[in-house]
Parts: sequence; structure tokens; C-alpha cells
Amino acid sequence: MNMRKSALLYLISFFIITLVSYTGCPSVFCQEGEEINAKSLYIYHCTTCHGEDGKGTKRGHELKAPNFADPKWQATKKDEEILNTITSGKNKMPKWSEKLKPEEIQALAKYVRKLAPKKR
Ligand code: HEC
Repeated sequence: MNMRKSALLYLISFFIITLVSYTGCPSVFCQEGEEINAKSLYIYHCTTCHGEDGKGTKRGHELKAPNFADPKWQATKKDEEILNTITSGKNKMPKWSEKLKPEEIQALAKYVRKLAPKKR
């Protein structure tokens, strides 16, 4: 390998390493981006008890999970309460602070709001 080629290779590797350390992930390799997909998190972690529609599964009902699709339930719940419960748990609701990042919990709290019927 001649000098010019190795200098070029050195430059390229330097560039890639800088890119990786700056962004954590060069865009070429991570086209999906950093965006949190609340729906897939919800489906993965929460549907066993809460169901895809938020109304609660058989297991959820046995554990006394609320119905997220009930506008009355939505109206009486504050955002902080929802965030706190997802983060720290409540009765039979498991806590998620060790499994999910705060941003993911935020996104899930918003997603739970979306399960309510649309306001007319
Ligand atoms: C093992 C079953 C189970 C799983 C899995 C589960 N939950 Fe729950 N969840 C419950 C139960 C039971 C309650 C009712 C707690 C209570 O009020 O006694 C609840 C309550 C809630 C509430 C109401 C909060 C409040 O303050 O009343 C929210 C919001 C919620 N869950 C979101 C989630 C999210 C988001 C996930 C997934 C990350 C999840 N749950 C996973 C069982 C579960």
C-alpha cells in the first residue's frame, strides 16, 4: 500500500470514529433514528394487562387495571399521576423505571392518552 492510500484510509477511519463518538451512531448505519416508538413499546410491554385498545385484558381485569378508553377515567387522571404510576408502579401495576428510559415513559404516558375516544 502506498503512502497516499494509507493516509486516506487513516483520514476515513478518523472521520468515522469522530462521527460515531459525536452522534453515538452514524446516520448511515442508523437510519431508523432515535425516535421513540410509543406504540411498539406499549404493544411489547403493556398489552398483556392493558390490551391493545387500553380496555384491559382478562389478566388486567383480574389485577384491577383501569380502562384507558373510558373518557371518565381519562378525565380524572392527571398527567403526573400517569407518569408516576408507570415509573414507580402502583398496587399490581409493575414499575418500569428500571426497564425503560424516562423519555420512553413520557412517550408511553402520552400514548395512554391517545387510547381515549376522540373528543367531539
Ligand atoms: C402485570 C400487568 C400490567 C402490566 C404489564 C402493565 N400494567 Fe399498567 N396497570 C396494571 C394494573 C393492575 C393497574 C391498576 C393499578 C391500580 O390503580 O391499582 C395499572 C394501571 C396503569 C395506569 C393507571 C395509572 C394510575 O395512576 O391510575 C397506567 C397509565 C398504566 N397502568 C400504564 C401502563 C403502561 C404504559 C404499561 C407498559 C409499560 C403497563 N401499564 C403495564 C397492570 C399492568
